[in-house]
Amino acid sequence: MIITVDGPAASGKGTLARRLARHYGLPHLDTGLLYRGVGYLLLERNRALDDATTAEAIAQSLDLTKLDADALRADRISEAASYVAAMPGVRAALLKMQQDFARQPGGAVLDGRDTGTVIAPEAEAKLFVTASPEERARRRHVELATRREPTEYCEVIADIRKRDERDSERSVAPLKPAPDAVLLDTTQLDIEAAFRAAIAIVEATRAGRARS
Ligand code: C5P
Repeated sequence: MIITVDGPAASGKGTLARRLARHYGLPHLDTGLLYRGVGYLLLERNRALDDATTAEAIAQSLDLTKLDADALRADRISEAASYVAAMPGVRAALLKMQQDFARQPGGAVLDGRDTGTVIAPEAEAKLFVTASPEERARRRHVELATRREPTEYCEVIADIRKRDERDSERSVAPLKPAPDAVLLDTTQLDIEAAFRAAIAIVEATRAGRARS
């Protein structure tokens, strides 16, 4: 079974995808880490964020095992990732690795932007996880504080809105649910309630497929 989980920044899609993967005993790929890896290496090499040629070369030889996933989640990398993710050459370079992951025997859980549309349109269950910008900013604010990256709430929400806008308006893989994705709004849900709702969606989708 392939499950894809998409949604805007700080919607909780990563946490839900990891929990779904554990629940169903499936391998999990956080595809955002790939774009974060490219953004991180671009910054490391002191290149401009719009240097598409270098970004594409980095994407072609990206080896995530050599990068520290925790460092990739830092705030300045989020910004760089959303820049390089808008480059068609970078997306093309990262496509095969993601498709191979999705199509391994037994299936997988993938979270990230175009997982349900481009990477694995054949996925059995597709979730689009969302929450209000204020609630996403509140969660991100708490996360940054625990990562010892204290930031003002007003800066976090401004950043979330900027990323939403850049992710929604870009021409390649814009932020929008796959037509057959099920929307899960977690604004009023804690992680346990959101997880139960996600399982219910996956099970309902499976049952629906079994019947048809
Ligand atoms: O999900 P995460 O916040 O780690 O993603 C970082 C950035 O990478 C997002 O802002 C998004 O623009 C981009 N991304 C993407 N396609 C994916 C995963 C992430 O465009 N499959």
